[in-house]
Amino acid sequence: MPGRPWELHLLLLLGLGLRAQEALPPPCESQVYCHGELLHAIQMAKLYPDDKQFVDMSLSTAPDQVLRRFRELAEAHNHSVPAPQLREFVQQHFRPVGQELEAWSPEDWHGSPRFLQRIADARLRAWAEQLHHIWRKLGKKIKPEVLSQPERFSLLYSPHPFIVPGGRFVEFYYWDSYWVMEGLLLSEMVQTVAGMLQNFLGLVKTYGHIPNGGRVYYLQRSQPPLLALMMDRYMDATHNVTFLRENIQTLALELDFWAVNRSVSVRVGGQSYNLNRYSVAYGGPRPESYSKDAELADTVPEGSREALWAELKAGAESGWDFSSRWLVGGPNPHLLSSIRTSKLVPVDLNAFLCQAEELMGKFYSLLGNDAQATKYRNLRAQRMAAMQAVLWQEQKGAWFDYDLENGRNNLEFYPSNLTPLWAGCFSDSSIPDKALKYLEDSQILTYQHGIPTSLLNTGQQWDFPNGWAPLQDLVIRGLTKSVSPRTQEVAFQLAQHWIRTNFDVYSQKSAMYEKYDVSSGGQPGGGGEYEVQEGFGWTNGVALMLLDRYGDRLTSGAPLALQVPCCLVATLLLSFLPQWP
Ligand SMILES: *[C@@H]1O[C@H](CO)[C@@H](O)[C@H](O)[C@H]1NC(C)=O
Ligand SMILES: *[C@@H]1O[C@H](CO)[C@@H](O)[C@H](O)[C@H]1NC(C)=O
Ligand SMILES: *[C@@H]1O[C@H](CO)[C@@H](O)[C@H](O)[C@H]1NC(C)=O
Repeated sequence: MPGRPWELHLLLLLGLGLRAQEALPPPCESQVYCHGELLHAIQMAKLYPDDKQFVDMSLSTAPDQVLRRFRELAEAHNHSVPAPQLREFVQQHFRPVGQELEAWSPEDWHGSPRFLQRIADARLRAWAEQLHHIWRKLGKKIKPEVLSQPERFSLLYSPHPFIVPGGRFVEFYYWDSYWVMEGLLLSEMVQTVAGMLQNFLGLVKTYGHIPNGGRVYYLQRSQPPLLALMMDRYMDATHNVTFLRENIQTLALELDFWAVNRSVSVRVGGQSYNLNRYSVAYGGPRPESYSKDAELADTVPEGSREALWAELKAGAESGWDFSSRWLVGGPNPHLLSSIRTSKLVPVDLNAFLCQAEELMGKFYSLLGNDAQATKYRNLRAQRMAAMQAVLWQEQKGAWFDYDLENGRNNLEFYPSNLTPLWAGCFSDSSIPDKALKYLEDSQILTYQHGIPTSLLNTGQQWDFPNGWAPLQDLVIRGLTKSVSPRTQEVAFQLAQHWIRTNFDVYSQKSAMYEKYDVSSGGQPGGGGEYEVQEGFGWTNGVALMLLDRYGDRLTSGAPLALQVPCCLVATLLLSFLPQWP
């Protein structure tokens, strides 16, 4: 027993220090794909430009045998195997990436979905048709051997074919899929949507939640929860109440995961509120970014490394990997090592859950289960009160992430600050117009190529100058909740900017991208951990949504005159005239 107060303090400090150093469990059991000496040696040797490549390879023999061979190799080299031997080892025991997936052309794809006819501008219509064609390139189906020998693959088996984001992302991703599904529904591909929805429901039944993406190394983290919304969109298209009845408990199970594993109590103004956060208590570097995470950990004291890795995984769970949102309040908000995702109560996560609770109330009413409907309506009411007290800032006219340790909101601009509008999670009808004023005050409407992800240039991909399609949707459809024609008009202008950026870049590069640089006249985005990717599922989905909603008014921009040499001079002269308001 400690005899003096300072001894007690010392013991407490030691205890905390030990706890901080204690290893958290690995993101999955696999000693090939999630943790262990083999993974460490191969990833730290940097055999490939992107760490994701190795963990996406499948094994050519049973994992026990490969691990035994590796132990022999490691022992023969005193646990420091040179890179050429590692390369040879990988070639002998692994198969190149992508072989467990086959290209799949969706059976419900057809050439002339009705929404195309509603697009007035001929060049935008032709482009929308090309976007509609891209679904056929992004379709994937998992080969049966992944089901019969799952231990040889990092890919998680799902029975139904699906649409992937594209580029390095050849498996499904959770929140991406919602915007993909919106696009697929416009393309009248409801069977593909149903299959993707069934895959997600199956994952909830197996794991209790939806993993970030379709790989074992993503298992212990999720992504922004949009499953109930996916069901709602499917129901809108099919009115299949039988399907809803069969799966309502699985939807509830997913929300239980967020309630049990991701909730946090916040004390503000003498009252306690329950809200949610992203938090992943699993250790080690992320297998798909292993060497980057390991090197980042070398810059912090040894006792903080496991906590750093857990915070990086929580950042990945947020979908915003990475952003100044999660670096705020740390020792140096420009360094990724400052990441403290789980110390923040995010606006968007709580808005998504608020919407899910509303939808669950609606679903249960439809199924005649009033007790459950009431339960979810009460949960939603509690969350709205909590969001009002903890996240809403009346003088700013928006919601802001709450820092649990510093007891204050992060007042930086992020499009996520308006997610409650998009989610219909507000009760005062003046709020959409306050949000417009917030955008004006933050000088966001001065950006002509899309809404920036923040106004901070940290080099992270979820910051300035990148613009992301889902964030354009959050703001644009948020503003359309207003009854004011002016706010509606701003929503349209934002849609016009984004469409023109997508269209211009497509005209130059014949590709759609995961993100765009909104500062430089519209170029593919950059920054972050990997090269910008082409494809691209959610960008295409959002473009189709905007083309559908505003197809009668959107223009491709370049005046017709530009295509006719005789009119070039007139066009140049016109361009010196004051801009149309
Ligand atoms: C093996 O490596 C350790 C340090 O990693 C070193 O101390 C030891 O001498 C090495 N043994 C041989 C036989 O090279
Ligand atoms: C969620 O919490 C439960 C109960 O504490 C735990 O058994 C489960 O492993 C957790 N799930 C994840 C993905 O962390
Ligand atoms: C509706 O859902 C049921 C149950 O999952 C399914 O058997 C049926 O095929 C679905 N109907 C349509 C029209 O998709």
